[in-house]
Amino acid sequence: MEKSWWKESVVYQIYPRSFMDSNGDGIGDIQGIISRLDYLHELGIDVIWLSPVYRSPNDDNGYDISDYQEIMDEFGTMEEWEQLLAEVHNRGMKLIMDLVVNHSSDEHQWFVEARSSKENRYRDYYIWRPGKDGKEPNNWGSNFGGSAWEYDERTDEYFLHLFSKKQPDLNWENRALREEIYKMMTWWLDKGIDGFRMDVINFISKVEGLPNDEVKPGNKYASGSKYYRNGPRIHEYLQEMHQEVLSKYDVMTVGEMPGVTPELAKLYTADDRNELNMVFQFEHMGLDNGTNGKWDLKELHLNDLKTNLSKWQTELEHKGWNSLYLNNHDQPRSVSRFGDDRQYHYESATMLATLLHMMKGTPYVYQGEEFGMTNVNFPSIEDYRDIETLNFYSEAKEQGESEEQIMASLYAKSRDNARTPVQWDDSLNAGFTSGIPWIEVNPNYMEINAKKAMEDSNSIFHYYKKLIQLRKQNEVIVYGTYKLLLEEHPAVFAYERKLDTQTLYVICNFYGERTTVDLEELNGAQLLLSNYKKDETNEYKPYEARVYLVEKQQ
Ligand code: NOJ
Repeated sequence: MEKSWWKESVVYQIYPRSFMDSNGDGIGDIQGIISRLDYLHELGIDVIWLSPVYRSPNDDNGYDISDYQEIMDEFGTMEEWEQLLAEVHNRGMKLIMDLVVNHSSDEHQWFVEARSSKENRYRDYYIWRPGKDGKEPNNWGSNFGGSAWEYDERTDEYFLHLFSKKQPDLNWENRALREEIYKMMTWWLDKGIDGFRMDVINFISKVEGLPNDEVKPGNKYASGSKYYRNGPRIHEYLQEMHQEVLSKYDVMTVGEMPGVTPELAKLYTADDRNELNMVFQFEHMGLDNGTNGKWDLKELHLNDLKTNLSKWQTELEHKGWNSLYLNNHDQPRSVSRFGDDRQYHYESATMLATLLHMMKGTPYVYQGEEFGMTNVNFPSIEDYRDIETLNFYSEAKEQGESEEQIMASLYAKSRDNARTPVQWDDSLNAGFTSGIPWIEVNPNYMEINAKKAMEDSNSIFHYYKKLIQLRKQNEVIVYGTYKLLLEEHPAVFAYERKLDTQTLYVICNFYGERTTVDLEELNGAQLLLSNYKKDETNEYKPYEARVYLVEKQQ
């Protein structure tokens, strides 16, 4: 396997709106980020992925971009962004930017032009269709609820939007549009950035004719996703993008890809195919979804998680590369979702981190995860800000679901769980802002905050530091092969990593009850890391995680 800096890196995701506010307007900004770079450096991360900071009317918090080459006013100026890049580089870290090119904002100049007339030269940058029998051109639903089509009176046609109606889909079939995007990417790369995270990049090629999909019983719209995920020209577009842009720089790329399978991921990420370095897969994020999707709550079965993550590990062993994550700005907080954010807050947060960081792939830390930020239970829908959450709430209300049931879904799955302000300390507003935060701070900030975690050498923060250091000291963590152990154990997720003379054993008790683990292989092994005081009996305490190393003489 070829070695690369991005395989050896740990990435930290910043969601700028909620990270750190420097000017008291209640919204995170670039100077706020700069003020926390030493903190990130101390944590030991290598790469920062910055969620969108471009000009945007914020229908979807920056994932609706009205100018790809300007900075959002609330966040600062281009000069400040340049200062950020320089300061990141000065500390020996790298910066990757979010590339959101499946859609733009409806306030982007291209769309303003496009909707003005059918003859406009930008018309074909978007996906327009006449209505069918006075209705939408097909039966696809948007990922944020409702139809995926919006009628535009001026030209008596509909445009496609797989997300909100303020996020019209770009038409990748159009060569001129693709060239504009490649030019824009080149412009950012020439500024010195170190790569891109690509938003729903496997949605950019749609099946010709945009056929109707099957509507599931009880639903108004069909998903349509089989006609736009991993579409017919996706590999061609990615290879073209690679050839025209990415191949000219030493950068990393990660494609966000709902619905990607390991078979496809190999095509997207194999070194010799010149597409992307890695993808964000979603299968493990769906294991606690019921049959009606994310809001339909289901208990996670450890066995499903073991089978799924192990499948990704082994399938991509020799071809392709994994990205490793348990949460981000779209997902609930991992300690609340998969651990116990009360009684075993430290133990379960560190166990989950161990499980993830010792796997093969590039690990991603989402802001606040490194000191165990948790989900939030806001008392009322008024406190929520996320468009997907708000749309779900009103649709569910219309369908007669109870308030209690709806709120239970939000508490478990709303994207706002991940978007409450970063809890820096125990001062007003958790030290995030001196103003009124755009979204309420999680009330547990007096207990859970970065300052406290940094001062306590036995905190989640310090444990993350150790995990990150271990990766730098042991090649086996980066390049070793993976094998699942104790497949049948009902409470333990254990695996082995092997490289040359080194073998690593990772053993995680996934639950809050004691359990026993018998593994002969551990005889003579050295305990590298554990989230409890050193104890090498075969009894594992609640959420106990241990990492052992065996060095064989050659
Ligand atoms: C995925 C992003 O991560 C999410 O936040 C956004 O709402 C959609 N793509 C649409 O851009």
